[in-house]
Parts: sequence; structure tokens; C-alpha cells
Amino acid sequence: MIELGVNIDHVATLRQARRGNEPDPVWAAVEAELGGAHGITAHLREDRRHMQERDIRLLRETVRVKFNLEMACAPEVLAIALDVVPDQATLVPEKRQEITTEGGLDVVGDLSRVRDALEALRAKGVATSLFIDPDTRQIEAAKELGADAVELHTGAYANASGERRAVELQRLAQGAELINRLGLRLHAGHGLNYTNVRAVATLPQMAELNIGHSIISRALFIGVREAVAQMKRAIEL
Ligand code: PXP
Repeated sequence: MIELGVNIDHVATLRQARRGNEPDPVWAAVEAELGGAHGITAHLREDRRHMQERDIRLLRETVRVKFNLEMACAPEVLAIALDVVPDQATLVPEKRQEITTEGGLDVVGDLSRVRDALEALRAKGVATSLFIDPDTRQIEAAKELGADAVELHTGAYANASGERRAVELQRLAQGAELINRLGLRLHAGHGLNYTNVRAVATLPQMAELNIGHSIISRALFIGVREAVAQMKRAIEL
């Protein structure tokens, strides 16, 4: 069975538009669980554009399924993660001007920082995942550093069309194959929606998909609970 992690950052994005207290991402997490989410994912960015420290601490207290914290290898965020102790931490790259997480983590180019973060998280019993592009060197580096999982960045696949999409899917399939061979857990996410998710979900040994934007967008019209349930059906088809 593939686990669906629902990324609720965009509920916080809407709240931050007014810097007020609604909508509350903690409520969204409850609704996502009631819709059948296997996990709740939230990204505490250094620029705090959506999730706030308060959200992360409350989610830790209230989420009953897997709580997956997305984070950069930055000391300030790492300190919070080590205090909050999520069930899983997914290390992602961050650039201040980006609209969303663009490209995977450069594990090869940042070995010692990633290694230190992984070691600190592991010492607290946090499962670790690295968000990377389907690149052989990056996947091998993830294995070398002892990550539990690799989350393949599906953005290039999601943004492509026609023949290009088939090429990107093939890259994901090759990456997935290597991840399996190395004994790492296979996760994927970014840009997945109700129509493009199935091809990724059927990659052998897919263990976890993290999906946010499309679910929260649909939730505006049909509610979080139903939007999550529909995504589960799209994955299971
Ligand atoms: N996985 C990771 C590591 C991400 O950074 C994001 C975006 O925050 C997602 C999954 C979800 O992407 P989307 O919102 O496009 O579904």
C-alpha cells in the first residue's frame, strides 16, 4: 500500500495572506486524517512564508498519523526539528526567491552539511528522507550518508507534456529502480495531481507520495476530507 502524505502548507499560505489566524493548518490536518491521509507534511521554511513554528509544534501534538517535517539543512530550523522530533524529516533545498521548492537537494555538493543534519536527526530517532532529482550520483550519495528514504522530485515530470513527459517518467523509473536496489525507501512528490499521479504511483515499490497543491486547491470546492479521499482513489486505481 502506498502512503499518502498530505502537504498542508498552502492552508498556512492563505492564512499568512492576512497574517491572521484563519484558516488554521492544524484544522486542515485533522480533516486530512479524517479523509484517510497516512501522513501530514509541513515545510517550515526559513522565510516563514507559510508554516510558523507554532504550527509545527501544534501539529506535533495533534497529528495521529505520520508527521513529516520538510526542512532545509539550516541550523535554526534543525534546532526546532530536534526539539519537536517529527516522525520523519525530509531535507529539501531552499532559495529565498523561489515560488516553491525548485530542484532537488544537492547532496553531492553539500555532503558534510547533509551528513551532520542526518546524524543529528537520526540520534533523535527521526526517520530521514532526502528530496532529490532522479540523478544517480545524488541517489548514491543519499545511500552513502545513511538516509532512510529518497523522495524523488517529480516536478520535471509534472511540468512536461507529450514526449518530454515520457522521458521524465523514464528518468523517475530509473531512479526508483536504483533506490530500490540500494535498499532505500522510495518516496515521490511535487506537482502531482489527480491526473498525473497514477503513472508515478505505479512505479514498483513506491512507498509514499507527498502531495499538497492539487489537494488543497480541490479542497476549496469540496473540502479537505473529500479531496484527500479522492486522491487516495486516484492513487489506488
Ligand atoms: N514534497 C516536497 C519535498 C515538497 O517540497 C513539496 C512542496 O512543498 C511537495 C512534496 C508537495 O508539492 P505539491 O504542493 O506540488 O504537491
